[in-house]
Amino acid sequence: MQCITVPLIGAAGAWRDAARGLLSEGVAPGDVLWNAEGQGGAADLFESDRVPAVGAAALTVPRSFIALANTVVFHTDPQRFARLYALLWRLRDAPYLMSDRADPDLAKLRQMEKAVHRCRHKMRAFVRFREIGAPDAPRRSFAAWFEPTHYTLEMNTGFFEGRFADMDWRIVTPDVTAIYEQGRVRLESGQAAPQLPEDASEELWLTYFRNIFNPARLKVNAMTSEMPRKYWKNLPEAAAIPGLIANAPARARAMAAAAPTLPPLRAAAAQAGLARHVSVWADTGAGLEADIRACTRCPLHCNATQAICGEGPKRAALMIVGEQPGDREDLAGRPFVGPAGQLFDKVAAEAGLDREAAYVTNAVKHFKHIPRGRKRIHQRPDAGEVEQCKWWLEAEIARAKPGLIVAMGSTAALALTGSGARIMMRRGSVVRGRMGHDVLITLHPSYLLRLPDAAAKLRATADFRADLALAARLAPSRSAGPSATRR
Ligand code: URA
Repeated sequence: MQCITVPLIGAAGAWRDAARGLLSEGVAPGDVLWNAEGQGGAADLFESDRVPAVGAAALTVPRSFIALANTVVFHTDPQRFARLYALLWRLRDAPYLMSDRADPDLAKLRQMEKAVHRCRHKMRAFVRFREIGAPDAPRRSFAAWFEPTHYTLEMNTGFFEGRFADMDWRIVTPDVTAIYEQGRVRLESGQAAPQLPEDASEELWLTYFRNIFNPARLKVNAMTSEMPRKYWKNLPEAAAIPGLIANAPARARAMAAAAPTLPPLRAAAAQAGLARHVSVWADTGAGLEADIRACTRCPLHCNATQAICGEGPKRAALMIVGEQPGDREDLAGRPFVGPAGQLFDKVAAEAGLDREAAYVTNAVKHFKHIPRGRKRIHQRPDAGEVEQCKWWLEAEIARAKPGLIVAMGSTAALALTGSGARIMMRRGSVVRGRMGHDVLITLHPSYLLRLPDAAAKLRATADFRADLALAARLAPSRSAGPSATRR
């Protein structure tokens, strides 16, 4: 029988080292007596054995077990180390055990893990510091007394270090004390409750709590579950709870009977400001183009020559949406005039689609590129840029009121339908767009230009042509605006 004592401070590392050593020596759970320092039990009867060294054979332990063990070691159950070791032992032959929800050993450990997490959270919420330093000391100094259900102080020191790095502090619990001085935290054994002076923060806590307490929404059970009674004795604000609960019904009745409070004066000023604001949605004239040209909603405007607005009749049964202007469009100030635009014109003409009758635009209005030598290399806009520019696209749609929108390529499809799923799976289909319009998804002409294989290019061009022909057939028959029909 091996007898292993795990210290209270540094329990996670100590248990892990011991467990790895025992496991590599093949010591079965039944042959180990685990003692938790500070909890009495067998530790008082036996000498602790040397922790076995880890053997050469590599041990692979699921990550989820390590996370579980690193939490459960802080539980107060004296059996915690034995339970963890028993599960670790079984994991050697059943690596999938960690995902077996029906396993009683794992279920028990998960329950313990949950209890430790809850306790950690309560400590973060309910530790109350009181000032203990001399008034003329260079750094302010605070102390708190706290009685956690489990040994959660060690796992919380990082939290308190991050929160209170600009003061010295100590948190004393019956088992462990954390002391933060000179920017470093150290752990020592626990102490009895210190005599802490009352300070001004008590009154602050009380005032805060009285102010956030809403008598009309009082639910005593929910409140005591969130702020369990066992913590009340160390919480200054808890002194106000009985009175607040007792007076809540009368205060709630008084609130209901009282006249409604008038909105503050600044609300009127805000309302007036809103009324003066003219949204792009309300625009029907040249204002939208001017707004698009002045757009600085995302950084793409910094490197582009200009924003490229849509082109075509302002009200149109058919709208065609591409990705973003290319190099030629950026210089010319018009959409689809470069190689992709020329291919689009050609295939559209073959398909019987009249470009002049459609409103042609892009999902993103500025040319995104990186310089390479004297060239400007196209970069696909990312989802954030598409999202920013959707403001303009939706304004164009609201104005054009198309019966059908053709999304050419994945960026347009993303902007119009919210889905970036593969175009090859979706092309040729009509789906409901984000604004309720019918959206016909097809390939982007630049994609056809890039295809290296001649036969593939022919096939893709035929598909593109068929989609544009379908759009030409469908658009006039669709009523303007959002439609309920699906193909
Ligand atoms: N590609 C597009 O998506 N739009 C253009 O305007 C030009 C090329």
